[in-house]
Amino acid sequence: MKIGIIGAGKIGGTAARLFARAGHEVAISNSRGPETLSGLVDEIGDGARAVTMEEAADFGEVVLEAIPFGRYEELPADRLAGKVFIDASNYYPKRDGEMDLGGLTSTEAIARYLGDARVVKAFNTMYYGTLASEGRPDAPREERLVLFVAGDDEDAKAVVSRLIEEIGFAPVDMGPLKESHRQEPGAPVYNNPMTPERAREMLAERSV
Ligand SMILES: NC(=O)c1ccc[n+]([C@@H]2O[C@H](COP(=O)([O-])OP(=O)(O)OC[C@H]3O[C@@H](n4cnc5c(N)ncnc54)[C@H](OP(=O)(O)O)[C@@H]3O)[C@@H](O)[C@H]2O)c1
Repeated sequence: MKIGIIGAGKIGGTAARLFARAGHEVAISNSRGPETLSGLVDEIGDGARAVTMEEAADFGEVVLEAIPFGRYEELPADRLAGKVFIDASNYYPKRDGEMDLGGLTSTEAIARYLGDARVVKAFNTMYYGTLASEGRPDAPREERLVLFVAGDDEDAKAVVSRLIEEIGFAPVDMGPLKESHRQEPGAPVYNNPMTPERAREMLAERSV
């Protein structure tokens, strides 16, 4: 699969490495330009290329975005129409500034801005070091760590869930985008590595 990556830092860079290792083609972008990404793409090797943010959007059947939430209105909305779009960002008012989201979750705000993208919130709950080192593609699902997904487009969520399984984690569905506050900073599952069994318990207790 062709995967565009917008934001090539701790999360975007880690996701790019994992997707490439799983056999996908990745086109990676940041704010400073492709020439600043030669080290990362050389390290990843076959299957990776450095591009602009617009080219990453055009390239990807799936596009993963991992930039500071406060910059989301710089995303190329027109080029992301119809794409499966993974929002891995988090809203931290101290970093991003106070923003009036009108009662929406941060990912709903991005989805509203993008208009026609098929938005799934995922990859946002796990510390990048854990993402980098704890994937177990050969382990049974129940022994893996969970990555939570939320979204309104079931087919898009299924595509993202498959990618999560391929890189060795266990996807757990949090429901529609309006429920994505349950995987935002401060929520019980946030930065809290857990197995699918524990996630099911927490969902059943409604403690998430
Ligand atoms: N760190 C984690 O463990 C973690 C875990 C889950 C979720 N997250 C979330 O993921 C997002 C990224 O975090 P991070 O830790 O990966 O940050 P990071 O290491 O600082 O990387 C941010 C990346 O975004 C790029 N960027 C910034 N503004 C951009 C723009 N307007 N257009 C295109 N690219 C832009 C930066 O490019 P330049 O360097 O060229 O400016 C950089 O490649 C944040 O929302 C964060 O809350 C982080």
